[in-house]
Amino acid sequence: MENFVFHNPTKLVFGNGTVEKIGEFLKKDGIKRVLMLYGGGSIKKNGVYEKVVRSLVENGIEKVEVSGVRPNPVLSKVHEAIRIAKYNQVEAILAVGGGSVVDSAKAVAAGYYYDGDIWDAFIGRYNVKKALPLYVVLTMSATGTEMNGNGVVTNEVTQEKFYFGSKHVYPVVSIVDPTTQYSLPANQVVYGAIDAISHVMEYYFDVAGSDLLDRIDEGIIKTLIEATEIILKEPENYEARANFCLATTLALNGLTGMGTTGGDWSSHELEHAISALNPDVAHGAGLAIVFPAWMTYVKDKISHKLVKFDKNIFGLDREVKPEEVIDKLKCWYKKIGAPTTLKEVGFAKEDIEKLTEIANKHAPFGTVKELTKEDIRKIYEIAY
Ligand code: NZQ
Ligand code: ZN
Repeated sequence: MENFVFHNPTKLVFGNGTVEKIGEFLKKDGIKRVLMLYGGGSIKKNGVYEKVVRSLVENGIEKVEVSGVRPNPVLSKVHEAIRIAKYNQVEAILAVGGGSVVDSAKAVAAGYYYDGDIWDAFIGRYNVKKALPLYVVLTMSATGTEMNGNGVVTNEVTQEKFYFGSKHVYPVVSIVDPTTQYSLPANQVVYGAIDAISHVMEYYFDVAGSDLLDRIDEGIIKTLIEATEIILKEPENYEARANFCLATTLALNGLTGMGTTGGDWSSHELEHAISALNPDVAHGAGLAIVFPAWMTYVKDKISHKLVKFDKNIFGLDREVKPEEVIDKLKCWYKKIGAPTTLKEVGFAKEDIEKLTEIANKHAPFGTVKELTKEDIRKIYEIAY
């Protein structure tokens, strides 16, 4: 186990009926005017918008709205929201939505106090010094962004999907009410599950770790597999939703990274190139395609872990070959309706070169195997 420091300042407010409390939390913190950021309108159909607005009114909090954050969010929307936040001198950002909305809100919160282009924080030119306080009402569990300090945004001009991290953008309060997710389409549940499973796997296959963390990781992945299967049949099963939501939060709030070298994260790098080049591919779908391909490419280095994964997650008490475990994972992805090849989501063979160029901007990356441009190309070829 590596040495580590764990510090997570986010107050997680979890459970049925908690959305209505958002106004109270803001009021308690002395906030009177917020920029409310949301996506394409799902919150207006499922009643979350109405609950949030009522709670703001009851607690005397003014709001300025910016809507239209798209999945795989783009920098131009972040710029628009920063301009509006500055013009209205808001005191906090309130994100109501999934990972795309929350990530954009983090960039807006940091951009509020920065005179340059906040994209600088994504490309390592600016180290965030200050941000507006961020409050979150999460409507889709997947990314863990509700309890971490990372944000991922695409610069649509350069086709770069990059992330920034800062201790200043951890949400102050995150409300997770599993009932708000009853309205999620089945494919988003599937992508959310795969994203969170991938977060855990980025750490599980890391070169360092511990027995305790392996058990926590295996518990989270098992829970996600079981809960997903129930939710796909019974979308309004509260216990399954609650297990799913908590598992996704714990997958990327720092817990699963304890004692590791920080995780491998190659599959995430490889995926971000996929959804940067084709923003219609959901992050979780891209991971379903690329993670098994990465596993195949490095299987000799992670074979002992793949066998452990099989025994403790799929529960078969017999010796298996590493490739069988990768196949089993792929089969489960297929069973729940996820794509597992680049071809299936519309990429042509020629696109492999473009994907390689985009991903290579961050290379070399990975702790299990440090990937070079050539490695990257080969993994996309396996994924094709
Ligand atoms: O825009 P609306 O209308 O709200 O619809 C959204 C969107 O179309 C819909 N949705 C959300 N909640 C709903 C709902 N529909 C019905 N009922 C609800 N309750 O779902 C669609 C997808 O939303 P999105 O926010 O894009 O999904 P997700 O939460 O998976 O976020 C994905 C983004 O997060 C990044 C990904 O790369 C991607 O850009 N990530 C962020 C991370 C982080 N900050 O730590 C880590 C991850 O690895 C990931 O990279
Ligand atoms: Zn992810």
